[in-house]
Amino acid sequence: MSPLAEITTPVFRQIVRNFSPETHLYSEMLSAASIIRGGFHNEYRYQVNETDHPFSFQLLGTDPAIMAEAAQFLTSNTKYSIDINMGCSAPEILAKQQGAALLLNHKLACQIIQQCKLKTGGCVSVKMRAGYSKLDSKLTIEFAKRLEDSGADWITIHGRHAKQGYSRLANWKIVNEVGKNLSIPVIGNGDITDFEKAKNYYQSKEIKGIMIGRYAVQKPWIFHKLIKDQNNITKTDTIDLLVLSKSISTNLQNFLPNEFHKSRGRRFYYYYCKNFKIWPFTFLKNQR
Ligand SMILES: Cc1cc2nc3c(=O)[nH]c(=O)nc-3n(C[C@H](O)[C@H](O)[C@H](O)COP(=O)(O)O)c2cc1C
Repeated sequence: MSPLAEITTPVFRQIVRNFSPETHLYSEMLSAASIIRGGFHNEYRYQVNETDHPFSFQLLGTDPAIMAEAAQFLTSNTKYSIDINMGCSAPEILAKQQGAALLLNHKLACQIIQQCKLKTGGCVSVKMRAGYSKLDSKLTIEFAKRLEDSGADWITIHGRHAKQGYSRLANWKIVNEVGKNLSIPVIGNGDITDFEKAKNYYQSKEIKGIMIGRYAVQKPWIFHKLIKDQNNITKTDTIDLLVLSKSISTNLQNFLPNEFHKSRGRRFYYYYCKNFKIWPFTFLKNQR
């Protein structure tokens, strides 16, 4: 399951986990500097469910020492791992040399991995764009290999460059090429928008796994369905969309502070409401 700002809260993660115990979950991206400074309502941003494991906190930042300190604070005495955000392409993040801007500073990106590994002694992964302003597989492979040499345990590639934002389709050719050239696991991400696509990419020999973002907010049971399909289990489940919706909205209210309700609710329902397109026939029960 992708890390998604204002969506992958403990409340949403619990929904995914209820369907699939195996899926690797991520927190929303967390500012390392804010973790260290004790930012407003941080405790809600990094709270975890007992059932979250396997799970990574995703960190955003640029100073290796601050990133390492935040990583240690979040993971000490836990089995959770750290993921470094090298994919966010929002202009205000790039301006601070964070997120995908790290693709332009290989040395700094490697130092972040090295120091986080040293301080936590645990797994450190990277989620990155396939480039900064162009898709050049040679350059991307070179960068990913440097991350691997610095100790990254796995790398997730979103098959678009940062300047693309979400325009054009994710390029899975470059994702597969990176997968072919690295020894650590490479996870592919970008534009998995239906079950067939998920199944095809999941079976790709070049990569070790897939990460799904927006489509999994619409259909949080997608991971369960994939694993069931792979194991040839034919039982059909019925999902009650209204029960799931109620559980999300009630738990957002019960477990998150008032200031978070509107933003978290709005973001979730933007994707989830895509299930209700074919009114009214699939309104109450939806089989997918
Ligand atoms: C609302 C939203 C929030 C996101 N937040 C994060 C984030 O916190 N960290 C991150 O690495 N990527 C973030 N992303 C990028 C996704 O994790 C993912 O890479 C991207 O959406 C492509 O995957 P998809 O086509 O399956 O959605 C976000 C994307 C969206 C749409």
